[in-house]
Amino acid sequence: MTTTAERTRVAIVGGGPAGLLLSILLTRDGVDHVVLESRSHDEIEHTHRAGILEAGSVKVLTDAGLDRVLREGDRHDGIDLRFGGETHRIDLAGLAGRSVWLYPQTEVFKDLAGHARGTGADVRWEAQVTEILDAGTTLPGVRYRTADGATHELRADLLVGADGSRSVCRHTLPEDVRRSFSHEYPYAWFGVIVEAPRSASELVYTASEHGFALVSQRTETHQRLYFQCDPVEDPAAWTDEQIWAELQRRVAGPDGFRLTEGPVREKTVLRFRSAVVEPVRHGRMLLAGDAAHTVPPTGAKGLNLALADVVVLHDVLSGWFARGTTAGADDVLDEYGRRASRRVWRAQHFSAWMSRMLHSHPGESGFEARCRIAELRALAESEAGRRFIAEGYTGWGEILARPAGATRRRPPQRG
Ligand code: PHB
Repeated sequence: MTTTAERTRVAIVGGGPAGLLLSILLTRDGVDHVVLESRSHDEIEHTHRAGILEAGSVKVLTDAGLDRVLREGDRHDGIDLRFGGETHRIDLAGLAGRSVWLYPQTEVFKDLAGHARGTGADVRWEAQVTEILDAGTTLPGVRYRTADGATHELRADLLVGADGSRSVCRHTLPEDVRRSFSHEYPYAWFGVIVEAPRSASELVYTASEHGFALVSQRTETHQRLYFQCDPVEDPAAWTDEQIWAELQRRVAGPDGFRLTEGPVREKTVLRFRSAVVEPVRHGRMLLAGDAAHTVPPTGAKGLNLALADVVVLHDVLSGWFARGTTAGADDVLDEYGRRASRRVWRAQHFSAWMSRMLHSHPGESGFEARCRIAELRALAESEAGRRFIAEGYTGWGEILARPAGATRRRPPQRG
């Protein structure tokens, strides 16, 4: 039974990084909004996600007043590509003029959620959206259920679907306009958190004849490691000894590189998928972050893309609010998809390309496997190749810039 019917200007479905960043930007502008998140704050805070922030993402966070990343994150000026048992460093800072920051998504979430709480933003946890109402109209809404079992209705000038890869909002895109592009991968990542000191000071992306492995870091005492596995692998079936043996044989080489071992504290299998849905707007409903696109974790682009989407979305919304939110002004909302999609497709390509080069493909011929390694070598041994990787890994700084000729519009009035 519906117990309340409320009205706000922007209803944001999803309280992950995309939804919370948009909330912070709208609070700063004085735009009334509500964030609805189906999970609890604790559940999100304890879900491990990738850990690399592009320089542009760090700027977005610090511009929003969140600078803990600068004190507690680790700046990485390079990454290692390892193949043929040898390490080839990609000097990100030297080649692209930008670094990346190792700062896990859970920390980004804590910062965003803490800031939203501190400014009194209306974020409702454990609020499960069950139905999208009138998405194609000028007064869309949602029906949602709270933890006490009550059902509520919220109406808004605008609905933002930042509700992740299993988005409810995405399904309101009419079938006759919706275009879905996706790619499935025949492999996944086995991810572990281990209690051990660091084995390397920067990330090591390794291609070996036994498959891919990634050495990442977390703290002085805990590290994050991954190795390529079958998508249906059962993590519970693996002992610590088996996990270490698999990781060691993938990173092994004539240089004697070895990982420092310790107890495995957590293990999970991460599925791989590339997907994009277009268009990202239907009437007054707009999609952002994983609701609109998914990338495999190889390039660490997922969180960065979500934050970049929100920066563009917020800019477009500012113009829309400034012009007045009449139905006739809604065409400017299409600018969001046009501007965001360039970065989305660059990141899709980069993630799929890095994935293809670094992973062993079930059933690939010896010829194909050697060509993959030859491609890695060609890139690593050419300055142009290294620079191409560095520009992609650090996030194509220029793409966030507004299109040529665009001028900054008046900030929106409190509504
Ligand atoms: C991580 O540290 O979890 C991580 C880093 C880089 C990736 C993926 C995951 O590409």
